[in-house]
Amino acid sequence: MPWRTSRNPYNIWLSEIILQQTQVKQGLPYYEAFLANYPSVQELANASETEILKLWQGLGYYSRARNLHYTAKHITENLKGVFPKDYNSLLDLKGVGDYTASAIASICYEESVAVVDGNVYRVLARYFGIDTPINSTEGIKQFKSLAQSLLPPSNLGDYNQAIMEFGSRQCKPQSPNCNACPLIASCSAYATGSIKKLPVKLKKTKVTKKYFNFLVMNSNDQKTVLEQRTEKGIWQQLYQFPLIETPSSVSEDAFLKHPELADKLEVSHKKITLYNTTDIIHKLSHQELHIKFWIINTTKSTENAIKWSDIKTLPVPIVIERFINNFQL
Ligand code: ADE
Repeated sequence: MPWRTSRNPYNIWLSEIILQQTQVKQGLPYYEAFLANYPSVQELANASETEILKLWQGLGYYSRARNLHYTAKHITENLKGVFPKDYNSLLDLKGVGDYTASAIASICYEESVAVVDGNVYRVLARYFGIDTPINSTEGIKQFKSLAQSLLPPSNLGDYNQAIMEFGSRQCKPQSPNCNACPLIASCSAYATGSIKKLPVKLKKTKVTKKYFNFLVMNSNDQKTVLEQRTEKGIWQQLYQFPLIETPSSVSEDAFLKHPELADKLEVSHKKITLYNTTDIIHKLSHQELHIKFWIINTTKSTENAIKWSDIKTLPVPIVIERFINNFQL
């Protein structure tokens, strides 16, 4: 973990925002790419949002990448390029909540604040046998205050990182390695056989299904059309093929008669073919997307069309990137 040797708040901020999205192993290449492209907060501030979204591509929750850029500009323009130095003022930064503020304050400045991430919730819930749901208001308060009471007098940053790592490597969600655990003798969940039941998490609001039909223009002059998503919600500011949303998965016959289709097709086309016969299912936290790609071969391209070879630098949702890579084979 390359950030372990660092106490530079820029590096720690970057690594902790990335690690909220993914496991250490998957997050590492993103961390390295961000640092290589933007070695300091000034360089991140000066980058374009499109470029940042492209580097973030695949991590999901794209608002985090936009907040990263916003905060880099704020620090550069309003704070003389210097990060705030304590938990409370770190909390004022956009995109920085209790978790990130605690991580930066303890790792960079040895402030006595506990970091409570998913790993810490699990370790504490099991070790102390606490069944308060970790995503309830009460649970969040209870676990933070317990974690705070356990802090050692020194080496706060090391301690916080150690307990997170203990959770991710030893006290794992599934099949934790209890037989080789140094805490086995005093672990409440182990003693009562409730390892599998802890931590308790409240069920989230239900997942809504959506049906996306992407229109993939493919003209004789090797161009296609991408549009930028401007509306709030998923994939904000990312690029996608023109989209028609339907209330359910449509058949080819029904889709050809869809009233929006004629509106979206400005040029005459030879034929429309369905690329994937079974819907691609893409799961997000609150939505399940059922996706069809429709290929529309045309002789002429429209004004807004771009060369297939020029779309590689644009940030796109990962399902669209996968489609492009397969389609271009
Ligand atoms: N997970 C997220 N941040 C971490 C860190 N700094 N150390 C270990 N695990 C982590």
